[in-house]
Amino acid sequence: MKEELDNTKEAALSEIKNARTKDELENVRIKYLGRKGEMAGIISRIPSMPQEEKPTMGRLANEIKQLLIEEIAKKKNEIIQLKVPPAERMDLTMPGYSFQIGHIHPITRALNEICEIFTRMGFAVVEGPEIETEYNNFEALNIPLEHPSRDIFDTFYIRDNLLLRSHTSPVQIRYMKKHSPPFAIVVPGKVFRPDAVDASHSFMFHQVEGLMIAEGISFAHLKGVLLDFGRQLFGEEIRLRFRPHFFPFTEPSAEVDVSCIICKGKGCRVCSQKGWLEILGAGMVDPAVFKAVNLTDEKFTGFAFGMGVERIAMLKYGINDIRLFFENDVRFLEQF
Ligand code: DAH
Repeated sequence: MKEELDNTKEAALSEIKNARTKDELENVRIKYLGRKGEMAGIISRIPSMPQEEKPTMGRLANEIKQLLIEEIAKKKNEIIQLKVPPAERMDLTMPGYSFQIGHIHPITRALNEICEIFTRMGFAVVEGPEIETEYNNFEALNIPLEHPSRDIFDTFYIRDNLLLRSHTSPVQIRYMKKHSPPFAIVVPGKVFRPDAVDASHSFMFHQVEGLMIAEGISFAHLKGVLLDFGRQLFGEEIRLRFRPHFFPFTEPSAEVDVSCIICKGKGCRVCSQKGWLEILGAGMVDPAVFKAVNLTDEKFTGFAFGMGVERIAMLKYGINDIRLFFENDVRFLEQF
């Protein structure tokens, strides 16, 4: 029996040494020390041995059991303390965790791109509040209460004299009151109008306003700046068309079209076969606006323009429904 015990001990020690994972080690433990394990089998035969051998064998068996318990505990620590190389300790083929990476919102992207173009031309980026006074949003911009054009800027009123701005033009007023020419600014921001929501209307959208005031600024400067802007945004080959229009805060005023960026002006579905896409309104700052901000020195003239960012983003990125911008559908936003 002594030989049997010694052999079992050697076999167990070698298997403990070779175990690479906690599971393998546990199997070794069960094999030798389990209730039906090899040690239990040997020990169960001790009572039937000759009386004089029992104590020695019992003691030896217990010593071996104790040794195996200790060796298993040691080995377990080794495995836990990463002494076994990682490849043998864990399954390296298991897929890792993946993280969702955020995306720039297409409107933010378009806004950044627009502002960067003007910044390179020397314009400063300025912002104003979304809650405005009736005076800044209308009167100072030469849009008196009874003026029919005020309907176009249909408005969310908060209470008397306070409203959600219906365009970014009031920031012109704020800026001109505080700064003397010459200056050139662009004003990105949110605007609000109680329009019924459909594929091309939203009660909230974004505009970029532009304003350049200095000595001797003419309509030619306006054309030059906008053409340069249009080429940088849509491509060198585009053309611009200025159509006479009316805005209360500019005189003369124009609506500006870009040659269709899809069909290059030949006529297609996007431009309704016209070859042109309207992208902004512009003009020379009206004397009534200069008067409202007390800019009386007549040597200063300037131009202003305003564009809708959603419309430009829709054209540039080929999006056909404005609602997609605001639904927070990750499948849409992930594409930008
Ligand atoms: N404020 C106009 C709008 O919301 C856009 C606009 C047109 C701004 C002409 C201007 C401008 O500064 O000169 O529709």
